Amino acid sequence: MTTPTQRLSADDVGLTSAAQLLRDGALVAFPTETVYGLGADARQGGAVAAIYTAKGRPSFNPLIVHVADIATARKYVDWPARAAALAAIFWPGPLTLVLPLRAGHNLSPLVTAGLSTVGIRIPVHPVAQALLTSFGGPVAAPSANPSGRISPTTADHVISGLDGRIAAVVDGGSCDVGLESTIIGFDAESAVLLRAGGLPSEQIEKVLGQPLKRADESKITAPGQMLSHYAPRGAVRLNATTARPDEHMLGFGDIKGDLTLSASGNLPEAAANLFGHLHRLDALGGGIAVAPIPMEGLGHAINDRLNRAAAPRS
Ligand code: TXA
Ligand code: MG
Repeated sequence: MTTPTQRLSADDVGLTSAAQLLRDGALVAFPTETVYGLGADARQGGAVAAIYTAKGRPSFNPLIVHVADIATARKYVDWPARAAALAAIFWPGPLTLVLPLRAGHNLSPLVTAGLSTVGIRIPVHPVAQALLTSFGGPVAAPSANPSGRISPTTADHVISGLDGRIAAVVDGGSCDVGLESTIIGFDAESAVLLRAGGLPSEQIEKVLGQPLKRADESKITAPGQMLSHYAPRGAVRLNATTARPDEHMLGFGDIKGDLTLSASGNLPEAAANLFGHLHRLDALGGGIAVAPIPMEGLGHAINDRLNRAAAPRS
């Protein structure tokens, strides 16, 4: 028999329980500004392994480590000047930096899938901040959904995907950004965009004063960026202007849908609605037809997620 997943409140009582569960090696989902994360103590191999079991992840992809502040981050990674410049401007926030592991770090090798680098980020969501501060250590957290399914942007999404498979979820309402973090790595010369995400790459390029290299032009790759990902149960058809009889329409701008990402064509609003609307349309059954989304700003990350949702399933 499985124990149902506990729903914890985002107040002192709930956060104290959540931090204790993490110390005990249990899995706790929590809100961040991007999506809900499925957290485990990144130093406990057994706890990190349980993430893979709960999600049904096929292989050990490297996980992002979440910390409360830069001082804690520096215990685990080397700190090149280029990383410091980005962190100073964009942390806390929806940016993950892939950096060399520091000697003497005590992270479980399962977190990094055996790589010599680790993805690290400081979320800005007040509930994530409070939990990380109360816990006082590094929390490994992928998105809190079964592997290959749509990412969760509410506690209800987490429960519907993982009930009975994780100890608890801290309910902090819905996520503002709604897309996973932008992931940046570094090769010898340049910063490399490993995953488009909630921080538009144009903003990063402005700070760097030069274009980001794309992962396919660099030796660094983002493991685990599987083509079919974020997938609803039904088929997804992109760049549609109307729905077929067996589909529901996800609209944008002038193209109205059963649900519309943003009637005014606002990309941050569309990003925040993306996974929630996909969850709701998917629950209706049938396929999903999606209106075209412009390739600018957050449109890059939105189209990346939609392309994965529409990709042939393996
Ligand atoms: O917004 C987010 O980033 C969410 C929230 C919960 O923080 N987390 C998230 O984690 O999206 P996840 O596990 O779904 O994505 C982790 C991805 C990996 O698939 C990989 O592409 C990249 O981060 N990554 C992590 N460590 C890496 C490394 N050392 N080298 C290259 N890529 C890495
Ligand atoms: Mg994910």
